[in-house]
Amino acid sequence: MSHPPDFASYLEARRVEIDAALEAALPRPPGCPARLTEAMRYSLMAGGKRLRPILALAAAETIGNAAARADAMPAACAIELIHTYSLVHDDLPAMDDDDLRRGRPTAHVAFGEGLAILVGDALLTQAFVILGQGSPDESQARVARRLRASVCIAEAAGAVGMVGGQAIDLAATGEAAHGATSEEARRALQEMHARKTGALIRAAAVSGAILAGADDPAASAVDAYGAQLGLAFQIVDDILDVEGDAAELGKTAGKDAAAGKPTYPALYGLDRSRTLAAEAIDSARAALATAGLHGGWLDAVASWVVGRTH
Ligand code: IPE
Ligand code: IPE
Ligand code: MG
Ligand code: MG
Ligand code: MG
Repeated sequence: MSHPPDFASYLEARRVEIDAALEAALPRPPGCPARLTEAMRYSLMAGGKRLRPILALAAAETIGNAAARADAMPAACAIELIHTYSLVHDDLPAMDDDDLRRGRPTAHVAFGEGLAILVGDALLTQAFVILGQGSPDESQARVARRLRASVCIAEAAGAVGMVGGQAIDLAATGEAAHGATSEEARRALQEMHARKTGALIRAAAVSGAILAGADDPAASAVDAYGAQLGLAFQIVDDILDVEGDAAELGKTAGKDAAAGKPTYPALYGLDRSRTLAAEAIDSARAALATAGLHGGWLDAVASWVVGRTH
């Protein structure tokens, strides 16, 4: 799958900006206890792919311009804070019980379970501090867009989004019906993935578009794109859990089958899972095209998601 020739430089430039903004967004002493700052930074600045914030920035730029992209940075950072909190909690002994994340021992291994729980709490809360902060000369229209983006992100993160999906995952762990053919099992798996992973990816794209002032047809196209991209992302995550190795992934492989998780490879096999991921990416692209938003960075992000190896 080929990317525009300058996509690698685009990703690198966005990552540098995002990392600087995330560093600046971290609460620090004396307001924040030093050990908590250290533990938050440990998980946040460990070199994730930054897919979600890049997506928010790329969506803003696609609707607006480079200035709109800069304007979307607080929302982009908020989403990465929420995503990192979800990883810290996902790895806890009471959830997936993982000891490797982003190439490092997980937060609870490095700092203890209690502090890891609090790192998640603090990252989530800090996201809404950033989203709530306006600038003194902000227009009423911009305040309204920021509020709309904040609600979109909150819903995607919470009970009807990521947290709800994680609750479904928790209940389904150990219940994997290998090769299940029932339509119901397939629908339930797609629903779980749409929530636990798709919701936040979708909100990243949509909030970037909203902040850039997208009209309704453009916002709906980006929404449909984000939903398909999010599904493809988790299908690929499931495939990489089977095929990838810990050194490249920066997290332990082979955990899903060992835990009896319902996944795409468990229900469909690897080949069909790859096809379904590619089909979701095709649908994501088609959604962009309905609003004339194809051919730019959002298309390139779609290729990246389906072709990734970590
Ligand atoms: C991993 O997300 C967890 C899922 C939702 C599948 P990423 O693969 O985006 O993790 P980082 O941010 O690059 O570490
Ligand atoms: C992650 O799903 C969903 C989250 C909300 C974090 P996984 O449990 O498959 O993610 P990894 O494989 O541990 O990164
Ligand atoms: Mg999990
Ligand atoms: Mg996990
Ligand atoms: Mg996984």
